[in-house]
Amino acid sequence: RPMASRNYSSSSSSSSSSSSSYSVSRVSSPKSTMSKPSTMISNDDTIYTPSQEYSQQCHVKSYSEYQEMYQHSITNPSEFWGKYGSSLISWFQPFTNVMSGNFVNGDITWFQNGKLNVSYNCIDRHLETKKDKIAIIYEGDHPDHVRKITFYELFLETCRLANLLKSLGVRKGDTVAIYMPNTPEAIYSMLACARIGAIHSVIFAGFGFDSIVSRVQDANCKIIITADEGVRGGKTIPLKKKIDEVAIHCPSVQKVIVFKNTGGPIDFHPAKDIWAHEVMPEQPPYCPCEVLDSEDPLFILYTSGSTGKPKGLVHTQAGYLLYTTMTHRYVFDIQENDIYACVADVGWITGHSYIVYGPLSNGTTTFIFEGTPLHPTPSRYWEMVERHKITQFYTAPTAIRSLMKYPVSYAEKCNKSSLRVLGTVGEPINPEAWRWFYKYVGEDRCPIVDTYWQTESGGHLVAPLPGGIPTKAGSATFPFFGIKLSVLDPQTGKEMSGNNVEGVLCVNNSWPGIARTVYRSHTRYLTTYMKPYPGYYFTGDGVKRDQDGYYWIQGRVDDVINVAGHRLGTAELESALVGHNSCAEAAVIGYPHDIKGQGILAFCTLKHGFEDTEDIVSSLKIEVRKIIGPFATPDVIIITPSLPKTRSGKIMRRILRKIACHESTPEQLGDISTLAEPEVVQFLIDKVTACL
Ligand code: PRX
Repeated sequence: RPMASRNYSSSSSSSSSSSSSYSVSRVSSPKSTMSKPSTMISNDDTIYTPSQEYSQQCHVKSYSEYQEMYQHSITNPSEFWGKYGSSLISWFQPFTNVMSGNFVNGDITWFQNGKLNVSYNCIDRHLETKKDKIAIIYEGDHPDHVRKITFYELFLETCRLANLLKSLGVRKGDTVAIYMPNTPEAIYSMLACARIGAIHSVIFAGFGFDSIVSRVQDANCKIIITADEGVRGGKTIPLKKKIDEVAIHCPSVQKVIVFKNTGGPIDFHPAKDIWAHEVMPEQPPYCPCEVLDSEDPLFILYTSGSTGKPKGLVHTQAGYLLYTTMTHRYVFDIQENDIYACVADVGWITGHSYIVYGPLSNGTTTFIFEGTPLHPTPSRYWEMVERHKITQFYTAPTAIRSLMKYPVSYAEKCNKSSLRVLGTVGEPINPEAWRWFYKYVGEDRCPIVDTYWQTESGGHLVAPLPGGIPTKAGSATFPFFGIKLSVLDPQTGKEMSGNNVEGVLCVNNSWPGIARTVYRSHTRYLTTYMKPYPGYYFTGDGVKRDQDGYYWIQGRVDDVINVAGHRLGTAELESALVGHNSCAEAAVIGYPHDIKGQGILAFCTLKHGFEDTEDIVSSLKIEVRKIIGPFATPDVIIITPSLPKTRSGKIMRRILRKIACHESTPEQLGDISTLAEPEVVQFLIDKVTACL
């Protein structure tokens, strides 16, 4: 995978203009300190430092201000979070205690006895001063398809939908599945659930049949909210059709609410289906907010792990809301008139936290985009920036890499002068992509916030603050307020102190946004996150802390792969492959991929009577598409007579990974004599060399 390599030549960054408001420092720094990163180039690391002029306009204006706030958050978390909890969140009843519980017991709570409503915080409380302010700007797949929704309109639509849900018998604590394209109606759906205390489970619209069914069944959803079709890159995606198949297998589903998005044809089943546009206007435009406890669940979001089925992480009300509000405000340096754009999908945690909850709680204009970066041309993102005068633009490294393939004129020809902050998320960003983004999109003027976090963390864990933390291309820099990080030796579990260390990344203390449990399986929550290194939260990622104390995320250390920012468990992929009648055994690994970060490579053995043909390979791919979703389609499938296994039958993934990375000299592979069939190794090396 493209690691955050720091071996780039200084000339590559010399193009950064020193007259810009964000400049590049190239002064040597003292080694092995975690202190001020103000002026330094450490070894070959260029430091991008905001100018005073830039920083003065930010919430956090200097590294020392960041450090002061950070120290406060670590030494006195109750006071720190209590202060922001009171000032940034509106409560129906104030909390009596800021935090309790620990990782060993897995009994974390925040803002005990507080009563609030997240929908109120995202909408109602803004109505007095921002009724006519634009809350949501939507762009469809077609650039002419633009809608702007004020906070008041958002309020009316959310209330009507909340009332519709209530009229269908949805009550506090019930679960509602949302399988929607990236449209404002997806946001109304989430906020309508939050308003009445229903727990939403958003299912990414790219998921296929099995993935949807297992999520709907696991959470026992009563209602599914969907749309006729989605549109991406000029192609329509038949969402309702998929839900028709799903509903047959999910007896818990009583009703399917359908929004009209494209107007394309659907099969309408009157006993179960409800057209939103027919019934919503009949609903009263006001729905009171359910008074909820700080620790009542807000939503479930499923994510892949190394083993078993995806886990339904549960986020609760107050802590999640405060953490997304705070991180959104500080990491993107949000100001009142900003037009903030996150081009993720609401189906992932990035969409939840940074399209919906963080921005709307802050009363910010948030942008939602249904299309793709290359449609109709590779200028699409930058045209959107020009059209709407976007101030913050948050995307994924994979999108940047796909755009870098095209002439820079696609970016250069658009007016991007409104931009102040750029952001990335989802996977490590390679320095080449970072510098392209910095230069051609940010015009050497805008800091890049590389935000490291997870579905489990609710919000950013490690990220720069635009005015306060100088950046290095490829490093997520320093922890957010309240996050105490540790680098542990993976074998001994001992903390590695000081700088220039590499190990696994853990967090020492709880933070408001951490998921509280895995839906219906608290044991799994404890086993996955709390037990591997007792007393710590284990992220599953490897990390380096460099000589200046900067954190460089190295990617997953478990059997999770990250394909174009989508997190996939290799076990899930293998199970989909062996579900096909031809496949006897499968071993899936990630391999370095220029655009996607990691590609999916599957090694399969076939059952007796099946042969290695193009048809078999393509039907195996189709199987994975159908079961998990198109984004999980293996890039390469290698059919092999056997897999490298120990004599006790364990697949040697280490060897497969090395082969896939072309590290297959005898020294690189190590001892293979203990394998049951060592000769298969050469066969696989030849196959991989031929196709990767
Ligand atoms: O491996 C890390 C990677 O994505 C994982 C979390 O995936 P998910 O829960 O789907 O959430 C993605 C959006 C927050 C992490 O364990 N990851 C995410 N952001 C970064 C990253 N790796 C390196 N740098 C990042 N900025």
